Formats: sequence, structure tokens, C-alpha cells
Amino acid sequence: MHTPNRIKLITFSAGIAVIIVAAMSFTTRVVDNPPVTAEIDVPAPVKKIFQKACYDCHSNTTRVQWFDKLPIVAGMVRRDVLAARQKFNFSEWDKLSGAEQESILWEAYNMINAGNMPLPEYAALHSNAKVTPAEMATLRNYLDTKRKTVHPDTTAVKQEHNTAKAVPVAPTGIQFMPEFRQWQVMSTTSRFDNTTMRVMYANPVAMKAIQEKNISPWPDGAIIVKVVWEKALDNEGNIHPGKFLNVQFMVRNHTKYESTDGWGYAKFETPELKPAGTLLTAQTCASCHRAANKTGGIFDLSTLN
Ligand code: HEC
Ligand code: HEC
Repeated sequence: MHTPNRIKLITFSAGIAVIIVAAMSFTTRVVDNPPVTAEIDVPAPVKKIFQKACYDCHSNTTRVQWFDKLPIVAGMVRRDVLAARQKFNFSEWDKLSGAEQESILWEAYNMINAGNMPLPEYAALHSNAKVTPAEMATLRNYLDTKRKTVHPDTTAVKQEHNTAKAVPVAPTGIQFMPEFRQWQVMSTTSRFDNTTMRVMYANPVAMKAIQEKNISPWPDGAIIVKVVWEKALDNEGNIHPGKFLNVQFMVRNHTKYESTDGWGYAKFETPELKPAGTLLTAQTCASCHRAANKTGGIFDLSTLN
């Protein structure tokens, strides 16, 4: 009764094995490993995470598994590795400026957090490549030590506000709201470019939504503010917020601002908090913020959790 089945199974397995061996002899070289010119220099526990989860694509020490050598698969692996090295390469880390390195490490953290990296199809086959919550914490701690300390100097904003004659109003009808200075600081960043520093504030509605993870969609009444300064370098090489540049608001009202995905946009520029742009500007703001649609249009949440 059982024997014929077992024989079938053995025959079937043998068949598969023959196909695999044949396939491997077709394609053995999947991708070359060029020399390592400058390995990324991070603490060993952080490096270990990258090595196990990212190095098969983003380095010159790609390890190829037997199933990666199968025809068709080999082509896909090769394409992924070349595309990944193109984006950044942990084995040629000195090709990037300090600012680029910093921004890639943050992007790396965000990509893992969002489940985009390592590539899901790769992670499915290489189960030990998945980054664990404990490893995420290690990575996060490391990044936090690298983060430059920002001393939000809101006196500059205060001065600008006090000299303004009337409360400025943006083309979208959004008024400048000086009370944002009492709101909670959501995050600070200097990572998207190398010339400015930003501080993000969230009003109580937005803060509550973040804490309760109630952000898809964000509740009406949530307001998020970004204040931008020029980055200034002192004699000792410390970085400080320099000249105050602008304040940007995102105000949630899903009916009123339907044409811009439920967020109203406003930007006020120095020296006298002049409302910037036209109604069309809000469309430009929205079209870029759409890229953050996984977090309801807000980019900088990843630094909170
Ligand atoms: C199986 C291959 C593979 C692995 C493993 C992998 N990546 Fe990638 N990665 C890619 C490819 C391919 C791209 C380029 C995608 C594109 O061009 O849109 C990429 C792009 C990226 C980008 C840039 C995204 C962008 O569009 O700017 C980041 C950041 C990134 N990977 C981080 C990581 C991190 C961190 C790990 C490890 C946790 C990792 N990757 C593991 C294949 C991989
Ligand atoms: C080219 C893309 C782009 C455009 C255009 C853009 N933003 Fe942003 N915005 C970002 C990114 C990226 C962040 C992430 C935080 C940072 O600046 O470090 C951000 C952050 C913000 C934040 C803080 C909340 C968050 O998403 O993290 C506000 C508020 C904001 N932008 C308002 C505006 C307004 C108002 C406009 C239009 C005048 C605008 N943005 C146009 C890319 C853009």
C-alpha cells in the first residue's frame, strides 16, 4: 500500500536532483566580486547585521547559494546585486561623502523598518537574513549616537514673529501659528541635505495619533510643523542652527484639503514670515509628500519609534 508511493517519491526526488545538478552546471558564475576598496567602519555588532542581511547584494563579498545558480534565478540575482551596488556598496564605502554615508544609514534603517529591505523575495529564501527587533534596536542606538545634537533656537522664530505686523496667511488660507513653539518636538534632522537643520513639532492631536499609531489616515486637526535653519559651523567644528530660513505647516482636514490628499500646506519665509508660493505650490508639496504615503504623507516618523 505504502511502497508504490514511496517509490514514486524517491523517483520524483531523484528527478528534481538531476534537474538541479544539470542546472548548476549551466550557470555557475552568477556575479563577480570586485576587490573591497574601503569597508564600512562601524561597531562590530552593527556591521554583523549588515553582513548577514545586506552584504549579499550591497557589497563586493556576495555569497551565492546553490539555488541562486539556477537558470533564470541567476539572472535575477545578478540584476539585483548590480542594482544594489549601484545604490551603495558597503565594500566601497569611501566613495561616499560623510553626509551621504549618514543619509544612507538612516535610509537603510527606514527601509528595514518598512520591510522593504532585504528584498522580500530574498528574505523569503534566506530566513536568517531577516533583521530581528533586537538588531533593529542595536542599529537604532548606533544611529542615535551619530545624530548631531540640535539646539533648537526658537528665539529667532520669536523675533521674526514679533516684528511681523499682522498674522501672515498662506494662499491655502492657513495662518501662521506661533503656538507651535509649545508643541512637542517630534524629531530633529539634518540628514536630507548638508546645508540646513530642521526641527519638527507635532500638535497634541498629531502627537496622540502617533502614539496610538492612528495615522492611516491621520485624524482631522493634526498639525505638523517643520522649522528650517541654515547649518552653521563654529570655530571648533561644532554644528549649530544658523540663520532662520522658514517654517512649514501641514494641517490635516480630509474634506477641506481633499485635492492635496487631505493635508493643507503652508510655508512662511524669513525675514518677515512672508507666505511663500501660490495655491499651486501646495500641489507641489503634496506631490512630493505622496512618496510618504505609507505613513499618511508624513516623512519623518521613522525616527520616533
Ligand atoms: C537580494 C538583494 C538585496 C539585499 C539582500 C538587500 N538589498 Fe537593498 N537594494 C537592492 C536593490 C536591487 C536595490 C535597488 C532598488 C532600485 O533600484 O529601486 C536596493 C536599494 C536599497 C536602498 C536604496 C533605496 C533607494 O531607492 O534609494 C537602500 C537604502 C537599501 N537597499 C538598503 C538595504 C539594506 C539596509 C539591506 C540589508 C538589511 C539591503 N538593502 C539588502 C537589493 C538588495
Ligand atoms: C521634494 C520633496 C518635498 C517637497 C516638494 C516638499 N517636502 Fe516637505 N518634506 C520632505 C521631506 C523628505 C521631509 C522629511 C523631513 C526633513 O526635511 O528632514 C519633509 C518634511 C516636511 C514636514 C514635517 C513632516 C514630515 O513629513 O516629516 C512638513 C510640515 C513639510 N515637509 C511641509 C512641506 C510644505 C509646506 C511643502 C511645500 C511648500 C513641502 N513640504 C514640500 C520633502 C518635500
